[in-house]
Amino acid sequence: MKIAIVTGASSGIGQAAARRLASSGFQVLAGVRKAADAAAWERVPSATPLLIDVTLEDSVNAALKKCRSRLEKATEVHLVNNAGIAVAGPVEGVSLDKWKEQFEVNVFGLIRATQAFLPFIRATKGRVVNISSVSGLATSPYLGPYSASKFAVEAISDALRREIAQFGCRVVVVEPGPIDTPIWNKGLSKKDFLLSDLSDELQKVYGHDLATLHKAVEKSARDAVPVGLVADVVEKALLARRPRTRYIVGTRALHAQMAAARFAPDRLLDALVAMEFR
Ligand SMILES: NC(=O)c1ccc[n+]([C@@H]2O[C@H](COP(=O)([O-])OP(=O)(O)OC[C@H]3O[C@@H](n4cnc5c(N)ncnc54)[C@H](OP(=O)(O)O)[C@@H]3O)[C@@H](O)[C@H]2O)c1
Repeated sequence: MKIAIVTGASSGIGQAAARRLASSGFQVLAGVRKAADAAAWERVPSATPLLIDVTLEDSVNAALKKCRSRLEKATEVHLVNNAGIAVAGPVEGVSLDKWKEQFEVNVFGLIRATQAFLPFIRATKGRVVNISSVSGLATSPYLGPYSASKFAVEAISDALRREIAQFGCRVVVVEPGPIDTPIWNKGLSKKDFLLSDLSDELQKVYGHDLATLHKAVEKSARDAVPVGLVADVVEKALLARRPRTRYIVGTRALHAQMAAARFAPDRLLDALVAMEFR
């Protein structure tokens, strides 16, 4: 029995990836936080809901306890670390509580889930698939918290990959560009949300740029590609004999943009970004 645990399977990428894996030979443990979301997974063949909030030690321990006997019997155990949130705003203005919330989910949550399931992954030569972002490769202004969390995911993935290769395990990072999921309705696309955390003074200082960012985010949401493209890549990451260490998911233009961002000098990139905010 091949088991794939997917965190954040209530919607978006996690839901699509979990459904795909359930239809391609895996027994999926679909990680959700709410009973209502669990009920939806009860009806999906080859899937079992698993209540798990990655920010809560007790929740992760309870999830592990619940599925331990299945994991012990499995021939393969894989983990897709997908759960994530996006916090935006100027470095100066986002409250430390919001910075912490961003890291609690995207970084410490990913580590908590990985630590919990890794003994089973190691024992079965399993794979860890970390859903990062193109924001983990290049940073846009006012997306500092989100981008910093995804840069951390990239570094953790590199460390883990080099640590567990010796056991026959693989670590794959998936770096999507804008994908059509509910994440865009959870704050990023709301102008008020971008300003809500800021003092009146900082609203005056950054208001113009945040309005520009808001328009760019709306455009990204409109141009977002279907979630199935990420599900394709997650499936490939678990099934390919030699998966790549990283997969960017998005349009050709996005691939070109990321390649350019890698090699272009900082000052040139700064000037291009500044033009967008003029
Ligand atoms: N959509 C994009 O354009 C895009 C691009 C690049 C990367 N990504 C990454 O893809 C991943 C999934 O995002 P999405 O776009 O599919 O967004 P989404 O539809 O908002 O899904 C996020 C999922 O994470 C779960 N989650 C949030 N906090 C959690 C916690 N503390 N414990 C467990 N689960 C938690 C949510 O559960 P609830 O429903 O209970 O809140 C939901 O299932 C994220 O890591 C995101 O950064 C998305």
